[in-house]
Amino acid sequence: MADAPKSATLTIGDNTYDLPIHSPTAGPDVVDIRKLYGQAGVFTYDPGFTSTASCDSTITFIDGGEGVLLHRGYPIDQLAEKSHYLEVCYLLLYGELPSAAQLEEFESLVTNHTMLHEQMVYFYRGFRRDAHPMAIMTGVVGAMSAFYHDSTDIHDAHQREVASIRLIAKMPTIAAWAYKFSIGQPFIYPRNDLDYASNFLRMCFAVPAEDYEVNPILSRAMDRIFTLHADHEQNASTSTVRLASSSGANPFACIAAGIACLWGPAHGGANQACLEMLKEIGSVDRIPEFIARAKDKNDPFRLMGFGHRVYKNFDPRATVMKQSADEVLELLGVENNPVLAVAKELEKQALEDPYFAEKKLFPNVDFYSGVILEAMGFPTSMFTPIFALSRTVGWISQWKEMIGDPQNKIGRPRQLYLGETARDYVDIESR
Ligand code: ACO
Repeated sequence: MADAPKSATLTIGDNTYDLPIHSPTAGPDVVDIRKLYGQAGVFTYDPGFTSTASCDSTITFIDGGEGVLLHRGYPIDQLAEKSHYLEVCYLLLYGELPSAAQLEEFESLVTNHTMLHEQMVYFYRGFRRDAHPMAIMTGVVGAMSAFYHDSTDIHDAHQREVASIRLIAKMPTIAAWAYKFSIGQPFIYPRNDLDYASNFLRMCFAVPAEDYEVNPILSRAMDRIFTLHADHEQNASTSTVRLASSSGANPFACIAAGIACLWGPAHGGANQACLEMLKEIGSVDRIPEFIARAKDKNDPFRLMGFGHRVYKNFDPRATVMKQSADEVLELLGVENNPVLAVAKELEKQALEDPYFAEKKLFPNVDFYSGVILEAMGFPTSMFTPIFALSRTVGWISQWKEMIGDPQNKIGRPRQLYLGETARDYVDIESR
């Protein structure tokens, strides 16, 4: 027998209101307040959306208390170990792991869309030479709607599919070219005989005068970084994509909005900020000084790469990332890397400190990713672009899910207004 529907009762003055409660397949119950304003004439107040579910979704599940991250039900550590990025892309986009034939077809489709429209070269050249690659990516991805008119109609399922494949396929080229432009080197065109991660590494590190031989261990580590960042349910940039899309904006504009949001240091920019912090600390003997600063209420300094809105336990991605850091640095013969030594000791000391324990602050995915990326040869300015490249599939999967949802309506939060009430305009001479 099905469970009786649950509800909550809200009392305001003499009136009571029944609010339906929805039970998810996993995670806490959700009180449905959609009709509350119509019935009771009140809004709810939740800045930062700490208690608000903005949508229903079947893509990704996080249990922050237990440190669990599932994509379509599959744990991230299993995907990081046994799968690879394009298979995870398929899973996120279509809901199931592909058969061998489906995967081959999907990989071929992505591989055959990696080139950019040649006129985009001129668009790149319009940026200042010292532009941050994230600034270039935001602009170039937004500009895709000016280059690919035939995939901007969100009401056409085929166009949505073409836009999705284009974005996933072209993002490595876009990010690599943003990097090449920022260092004054010629663009390297994609090669269809390389896998997704190897192609990206080559486009970043080859030059016309000398090709780049991709080390399979580095390519695997790159692929794992992409996989670990592929989706993370309704985080700030994904919610930005959904909100932008709720107005009917085209997919390229929406993903550009997501990239802009991801850039902030409290979100995707944390990997750059974290490596800069580790370098500023410089040596293990200075760690206590920085831990003391992070705990000082009068000092705005925070331990970058620590803490998370949702995880109040280990970020499962951080555990895989730490293993990858060890593997990559060993391969490159830099096991004694001073930045990695500072990172490991900082993690140890912070985890032993009651301040971090009480506030449930643990290393997040960004804590070790910068160490790996730097060892691979990437400058810090490329860390967040690599995150954006990886997260593109998550943004698109969530965007597609939202467009297909019959309940989809324009996002329009309310407010708790604390400003002046109506008053008469005062002429300038009288002020
Ligand atoms: N160092 C020191 N103290 C911290 C840290 C930190 N990294 N993070 C949180 N705190 C403290 C806060 O000062 C606050 O203390 P209080 O209750 O005494 O005021 C408490 O922990 C809760 O912090 P909030 O900022 O309210 O938590 P929120 O969930 O809003 O923030 C966030 C999460 C933004 C990630 C935060 O932990 C942070 O700034 N971390 C550093 C930046 C970072 O690594 N971001 C990457 C996130 S992962 C990602 O985007 C991929």
